[in-house]
Amino acid sequence: MATKIHHLPMKSVFLLYFLCLWTSPHAAERDSLKPGDTLNSSSSLVSASRRFALRFSQLGNDKSTNVNNLLLGISDCASELIVWHAGNNNIARNSSVLTLDNEGTLKVITRQGGVPMVLYNSSTQPTNNTIATLLDSGNFILKELHSNGSTMRLLWQSFDHPSDTFLPEMKLGVNHKTGKTWSLASWLADYIPTPGPFSLEWDPKGRELIIRRRGVIYWKSGYRFQNLLPDATSIYEFKVVSNGEEEYFSFSDKNQSQQSELILTTTGQLKVIKGPIIARADICYGYNTNGGCQKWRQPECRDGEELDFSSGYFIKNEDHSTKIANASLSISDCRADCWNNCSCVAYSSLSDNATGCQFWTEMSWFIPGYSRDLFVLKPKTSESRSHDGTKNWRWISIAIADAVIVGFFCMLCYLLIRRKLVLREKKKFEDENEILALVRLNTSTNDIEIPNDGKNGHDFNIISYTSVISATNNFSLEKKLGEGGFGPVYKGKLPTGQKIAVKRLGRNSRQGILEFKNELILISKLQHMNLVKLIGCCIHGEDMMLIYEYMHNKSLDYFLFDSNRSKLLDWKKRFNIIEGIAQGLLYLHKYSRLKVIHRDLKASNILLDKNMDPKISDFGMARIFNPHESEENTNRIVGTYGYMSPEYVTEGIFSTKSDVYSFGVLMLEIACDLWQEVQGLELVDPTIRGSCVNYTVLRCIHIGLLCTEISAINRPTMLDVLSMLTSERFESL
Ligand SMILES: *[C@@H]1O[C@H](CO)[C@@H](O)[C@H](O)[C@H]1NC(C)=O
Ligand SMILES: *[C@@H]1O[C@H](CO)[C@@H](O)[C@H](O)[C@H]1NC(C)=O
Ligand SMILES: *[C@@H]1O[C@H](CO)[C@@H](O)[C@H](O)[C@H]1NC(C)=O
Ligand SMILES: *[C@@H]1O[C@H](CO)[C@@H](O)[C@H](O)[C@H]1NC(C)=O
Ligand SMILES: *[C@@H]1O[C@H](CO)[C@@H](O)[C@H](O)[C@H]1NC(C)=O
Ligand SMILES: *[C@@H]1O[C@H](CO)[C@@H](O)[C@H](O)[C@H]1NC(C)=O
Ligand SMILES: *[C@@H]1O[C@H](CO)[C@@H](O)[C@H](O)[C@H]1NC(C)=O
Ligand SMILES: *[C@@H]1O[C@H](CO)[C@@H](O)[C@H](O)[C@H]1NC(C)=O
Ligand SMILES: *[C@@H]1O[C@H](CO)[C@@H](O)[C@H](O)[C@H]1NC(C)=O
Repeated sequence: MATKIHHLPMKSVFLLYFLCLWTSPHAAERDSLKPGDTLNSSSSLVSASRRFALRFSQLGNDKSTNVNNLLLGISDCASELIVWHAGNNNIARNSSVLTLDNEGTLKVITRQGGVPMVLYNSSTQPTNNTIATLLDSGNFILKELHSNGSTMRLLWQSFDHPSDTFLPEMKLGVNHKTGKTWSLASWLADYIPTPGPFSLEWDPKGRELIIRRRGVIYWKSGYRFQNLLPDATSIYEFKVVSNGEEEYFSFSDKNQSQQSELILTTTGQLKVIKGPIIARADICYGYNTNGGCQKWRQPECRDGEELDFSSGYFIKNEDHSTKIANASLSISDCRADCWNNCSCVAYSSLSDNATGCQFWTEMSWFIPGYSRDLFVLKPKTSESRSHDGTKNWRWISIAIADAVIVGFFCMLCYLLIRRKLVLREKKKFEDENEILALVRLNTSTNDIEIPNDGKNGHDFNIISYTSVISATNNFSLEKKLGEGGFGPVYKGKLPTGQKIAVKRLGRNSRQGILEFKNELILISKLQHMNLVKLIGCCIHGEDMMLIYEYMHNKSLDYFLFDSNRSKLLDWKKRFNIIEGIAQGLLYLHKYSRLKVIHRDLKASNILLDKNMDPKISDFGMARIFNPHESEENTNRIVGTYGYMSPEYVTEGIFSTKSDVYSFGVLMLEIACDLWQEVQGLELVDPTIRGSCVNYTVLRCIHIGLLCTEISAINRPTMLDVLSMLTSERFESL
């Protein structure tokens, strides 16, 4: 089957607070450049109270970028998101420097030559006492000083050249005197800072905010800002200024201590960093007016049709597509173009960097399934047809399920998972927004210290590089076990005879560094028989490794998703695995010294030891919770589709209940698969009917369904799950 599935290893970072500390641990920190000063790719300017840093940073992960592709940007030290960047492209190299010359010209030059990127050219107004300073507002300003040090005038400021992020005190609008307009432009794609299709502007006539897509107005805030989602007005104070000189909109945060940047995402949402979405142009299709959406003319052939692209499909045959290799097209262009071309039924991006488009014209090239990147127009008549009970596969299934009551459970669980996937896909634009946030991580650090929680030492050993080298035969290929979350994993044997698994951080994986630290800190503090055990770590220059106890039976997915190996897992083993995972999770949520949310629970992260006892692994994305907190909101959705809870995918809210959800999915995977076999056996051997196996499998399926309740409140806690699992009196079936 020619399918296009991208299992997104959307890994996040959580050790945010260290980042600005890391950038210049030894050098005296500075927030300004004086004439003659330079800022190179390994140094940074940090604002006085450390809220923002200006530096060259690398976008994305190793696959999509390289060290010769840097962006000069200002990042928020707490969220690591780039809130401003210089120029339209990441053209800088690691040999680039930002200089303020003696004449007052501010520019980025590359040592090998090439055209400099000029931020401010002083040739028209020569100056000789300038200073460029990064302020705590996130504004990078160039000003001219009197000889006594007071400010004479402002020459240039980054706030006059917004990118896709709107900061408090920044202006959106127009200066009639200079003719200058201020507006935001979305990025073209997650890794591509070139201005994309969406812009956020202030309309001085209507006195409202507007979002355009390629010039067309998609959304308006209304003059009372009534179309901003309610959270916005409670968080922010809006300011509208209109005088002879300027007409603009700006905002401030009612609570100064919060992060309050607003990002215009590649799909046209306006979103608070680490917070809610406050405006949505991504749900504006031209025929609806919800939430401030504007109408425009629809193609005639689409009359009465509603734009309902979703992904519940796999591509059966990729060859039938039309490919448009235009690197200025973003995914929202593909959507609009597909909608406007009457023969188009599906679209996706063409390139891995999410540019270009691919279109399909026939439904018969798809089969039901799930593929993240593909959007298929739901056939106009699908709803009515389903009610007729004719061709629709879902309804057929339900009809059959009706007849066979036991079969119903299998189907229900299948449908439930699938429906959730479809639902999730509908929210893809939201997810992309989150991914956008994710990839803009600024991890420009080479400083590898062993992390420490500041209070006491660490609970793991440092293992010498030489013993790791000899244990893994110098990382030889035959010792390689596979690829883990952030790099290859090798097996080996320490001189003591202990078998180990060595997880080596990929060489260029800067994001991996942070996950590495996260994992190291967390897992060294956690000890439970159902959590993988960290033996130690080894850091040798840039080479970093985590050393774990060796697991003889690989991971759960190795068994579960292979038709032969899955036969090796009888129900007793499966139940043992389910229970072990539940115990491990309960420990994380409730009984460990820290309250930990794993956030990426899935079959491949469940390792199996000699006795097939499960051990939860991969804490690269886990979060430590304040024990008094029950949930947190994040704008970086990390995890694996299919295992992530709806509230996490759509709103970024995660709590122990999101782990419960992932656990539920995992449990259904473990149990449903066997359920089918049991059904098969039943045909062969009727005595199995109603047997214990039958009963406990059903019980597990039922608990799995409870855990995957759409609403987090209705899901049980891990404590409930365990008591249900082990209680003989559980009789809800
Ligand atoms: C970058 O600048 C810092 C501080 O100015 C300096 O210590 C360092 O040597 C420079 N690095 C390179 C590669 O020029
Ligand atoms: C810059 O990148 C090149 C090529 O990747 C590398 O050889 C060089 O050492 C790097 N220079 C610095 C200063 O990091
Ligand atoms: C600044 O502008 C002048 C005149 O327009 C031009 O000759 C000069 O090359 C510019 N400087 C830089 C660094 O681009
Ligand atoms: C630059 O400084 C010199 C002496 O320090 C002074 O004479 C001159 O007027 C200054 N030029 C400008 C443009 O301020
Ligand atoms: C600094 O000098 C300028 C002009 O020479 C003057 O206007 C200003 O008041 C002085 N500021 C202070 C703080 O002395
Ligand atoms: C301001 O925000 C901080 C951090 O989010 C929070 O702890 C504090 O309670 C908030 N204060 C008010 C007055 O809302
Ligand atoms: C590529 O797409 C952009 C944006 O729609 C468009 O302006 C441009 O003309 C296209 N280029 C080509 C060669 O079609
Ligand atoms: C519509 O899409 C089809 C297939 O992608 C393409 O062959 C055709 O040229 C398009 N029509 C227009 C008017 O763009
Ligand atoms: C994205 O990928 C396409 C095709 O691989 C390439 O032509 C284009 O230059 C890339 N865009 C960027 C900004 O890297």
